[in-house]
Amino acid sequence: MKRRTFLSGALSAATASLFARRAFAQEANDAMHAMSGMADMPAMSGGMMQSPLAAADALPAGAPLAALRTLANESREPGQFRATLVAQLAARPLLPGKPPTVFWQYDAGAPAEKDGPVIGPLIDVHEGDNVEITFVNRLPQPSTIHWHGLPVPPDQDGNPSSPVAPGGQRVYRFTLPPGSAGTYWYHPHPHMLTSGQVSHGLAGPIVVRAADDPLAAWPERHLFVSDLKLAADGTIAANSMMDWMNGREGQFVLLNGARQPQIEVVRDERWRVWNGCNARYLQLAFDDGRAFAQVGTDGGLLGAPREGGTALLLAPGERAELIVRAGPGASHASFIAAQYDRGKMSMSHGSLPAGPSMTLANVRFAPERATHSMLPARLREIVPLDSSLTRTPPKKSVVFSEAMDMRLMHQPGASRRRMPRGMQFMVNGAVFDPARVTLSSRRGEVEHWAIGNGTDMDHPFHLHGTQFQVLARERNGERKEEELLAWRDTVNVRPGETVHIATVQHEAGDRMFHCHIIEHEDLGMMGTLRVS
Ligand code: C2O
Ligand code: CU
Ligand code: CU
Repeated sequence: MKRRTFLSGALSAATASLFARRAFAQEANDAMHAMSGMADMPAMSGGMMQSPLAAADALPAGAPLAALRTLANESREPGQFRATLVAQLAARPLLPGKPPTVFWQYDAGAPAEKDGPVIGPLIDVHEGDNVEITFVNRLPQPSTIHWHGLPVPPDQDGNPSSPVAPGGQRVYRFTLPPGSAGTYWYHPHPHMLTSGQVSHGLAGPIVVRAADDPLAAWPERHLFVSDLKLAADGTIAANSMMDWMNGREGQFVLLNGARQPQIEVVRDERWRVWNGCNARYLQLAFDDGRAFAQVGTDGGLLGAPREGGTALLLAPGERAELIVRAGPGASHASFIAAQYDRGKMSMSHGSLPAGPSMTLANVRFAPERATHSMLPARLREIVPLDSSLTRTPPKKSVVFSEAMDMRLMHQPGASRRRMPRGMQFMVNGAVFDPARVTLSSRRGEVEHWAIGNGTDMDHPFHLHGTQFQVLARERNGERKEEELLAWRDTVNVRPGETVHIATVQHEAGDRMFHCHIIEHEDLGMMGTLRVS
């Protein structure tokens, strides 16, 4: 009890650096094991080659879905949102008989919150709001906060080029323009350190609301999906070589910070779902194949509801708004991430089989009365970005590629590095260089981008500072026009596929674009767009 109280309180700087050192040692050790030559043993992806992992059922399941914490507005002025986010260490007892797990967590203040989801508090704001958030960095590493999907000024967007030092702080300021209502999130974006920070728990949801939201009266549920890879000793496992290569997936997929929670649906509901995982693809579905409607994407509502779907792929970083019906009578189903083959690589040649489907939540449908709330036929108007064009738009091309140097990967001493050598993830033939501008655009100019994937695995493309529209997808010589007119900031690109988008930036400055498998981003699959 004494130990737990000590650890749950504010962790001292000494404890923090000790923790960082331990994490480093663990990772080095882990990499060494991964290098020891037993490539492609099934255990490698399961983690046996690294410090043993906790069993896949080591975390309790079945508690009622936790509500996300909400970040309180410290301002009383209308149209003003002011708050503080502290990134700090938070110890939570997870595995019985083991020391508490030390997460990195966003909180409204210090010391860290000890109850509720580790997920950062929900930032619940309105179009037109002036947002002012003070970020306090109590981590043993530099960090930033990036407002994923929001049209914030480039110098307020938590770019890797503007880190906040350990112990430091800064204020982020932005105004939410009309039309920005949607489902966003925030997470760290420091140079080459994002994977570790997100996998330790740093990520949180944002909802921007519109005054004329046609679904405002619908009961709303928030489902933030995250991933957890836990060692048997209760520590958060370091990345293995396989994690760096394919993107990190733990043995746990969590919903609002808990494993397989219980959800009770008594009326038709609006679900906002976030894929806040480092690398896990979520093929969302119910295990009994029941249909649900999609009403929104990353950047808010669709023009009209899409009824009748039974599965929806959410790549890492993506969000969606769904309508889930209570149904005519009592029933239950599991909300799952169904099997999806994203072409994970093996250490030598070829690819790994798709992982099994995973249960996100168990849902009990208990309709209060047999009602079926009518969705409006139109949700809002989405104007095609292209429709304002008077001439052919400038074209840009982004190509994802990779190069694996097995000699470097297996070199003695490689294991002492923090990140693996010989594993290159690239944009337009080069790994990210903070000093280099990859592409340049002009403010207010609509452009057509072609995003190609020359690798054998899926990569989710993400562009900062704006929402774009997908125009078409091309694969195996076949071009398919995109039927769904929607605002997105993240789009999956399959191996051999080229996704065509229309996009525009409205402010001068540097914007990042990258693969949202965070390990790939850290390894260099990122570029800078200079807007002038
Ligand atoms: Cu969600 Cu550049 O990131
Ligand atoms: Cu982003
Ligand atoms: Cu990638």
